[in-house]
Amino acid sequence: MIHPVLLCGGSGTRLWPLSRKSYPKQFARLIGEESLFQGSARRLAGEGFAPPLVVTGEPFRFIVTEQLAAIEQAPQAILIEPEGRNTAPAILAAALWMARKDPEAVMLVAPSDHVIPDAAAFRAAVQAALPAAREGQLVSFGITPTRPETGYGYLKLAADADPGASRPQPLERFVEKPDHDSAQALLAEGRSLWNAGIFLFSARAILEAFAVHADVLAEEVQRAVDEAQTDMGFTRLAPEPWAALPNISVDYAIMEKADNLAVMPYRGHWSDLGGWDAVWQEAGPDAAGNVCSDNATAIGCRDTLLRAESEGQELVGIGLRDMIAVAMGDAVLVAHKSEAQRVKEAVKALKAKG
Ligand code: GDD
Ligand code: MG
Repeated sequence: MIHPVLLCGGSGTRLWPLSRKSYPKQFARLIGEESLFQGSARRLAGEGFAPPLVVTGEPFRFIVTEQLAAIEQAPQAILIEPEGRNTAPAILAAALWMARKDPEAVMLVAPSDHVIPDAAAFRAAVQAALPAAREGQLVSFGITPTRPETGYGYLKLAADADPGASRPQPLERFVEKPDHDSAQALLAEGRSLWNAGIFLFSARAILEAFAVHADVLAEEVQRAVDEAQTDMGFTRLAPEPWAALPNISVDYAIMEKADNLAVMPYRGHWSDLGGWDAVWQEAGPDAAGNVCSDNATAIGCRDTLLRAESEGQELVGIGLRDMIAVAMGDAVLVAHKSEAQRVKEAVKALKAKG
């Protein structure tokens, strides 16, 4: 049995005004009829998979239960973090929770805001990685890189690795978010894959890794789990020890340091929807290159994304090229597609205005 652990925290700002602190992008219907969170839960269900363990924040607990119920799933548990402290504490808490039931349990830790259209191929990759995880390896999933992206982790394959294999391969090292020159060099060497941010390991193996490489988290997270309160199916981690935790990702805390890493190459399509340009691309533009929501109309437009998000609202674009327009009830974004990454500047500017 593989236990999916769905991470549902983090407030991405690159998809403002749709994605916000109060409504992160995983719960929105960005591509297709289901939310990204529902797509992730469905992808990791079926034969060989236990019901998911969801790790999220207090404001999202009912969205989680409602969206799972809508796809006829019930979670194994919902762990509620008092505050977001990034992925390392969230994963450690999930592993401690899981180890109480079974220290050998294999966990598939996955973000809930990614697009992986070929669910069957992805599940097959997970199954192929299972023996390595059972043997105590920390398995990451590697994507063939296409550009010197600085927002991703790089998995540098060991000299004896076979990047074409369909089995987990040994790693020389894990480099989280290199600067542009290092990313360029890793790409040129041709022996690195992008870290998809998805991991497979046993509860025992990841707990040992935390004990060795990140023992600053150990005591507080253990207390937060031991003193957790469970009601109505929600397991609330204790706030007092949690408040003392540093904000640190599992990539920096564990993956850059551990020496029992392996990478399972995944050659299917993967996107983390890192901006509106990616949403446009992933949504499958029509013959003119446009992507329009139900109540948006493109007239004489090309390669443009038009989304009207409020009920009763109509959005019309005329003669636009390479544009993004997203209309919410209280905010409208109009941007050139080539500058879609600058949305985070807008969020900063609005925050400064108060
Ligand atoms: N529950 C919970 N609590 N989830 C969290 C928290 C938290 O405090 N912080 C982040 N997450 C979730 C996010 O919602 C997201 O789904 C996932 O964990 C990864 O966090 P990001 O903040 O999006 O990480 P990143 O994109 O900068 O980098 C990671 O993902 C890349 C691929 O998309 C790293 O793993 C990179 O190495 C990787 O390449
Ligand atoms: Mg991300």
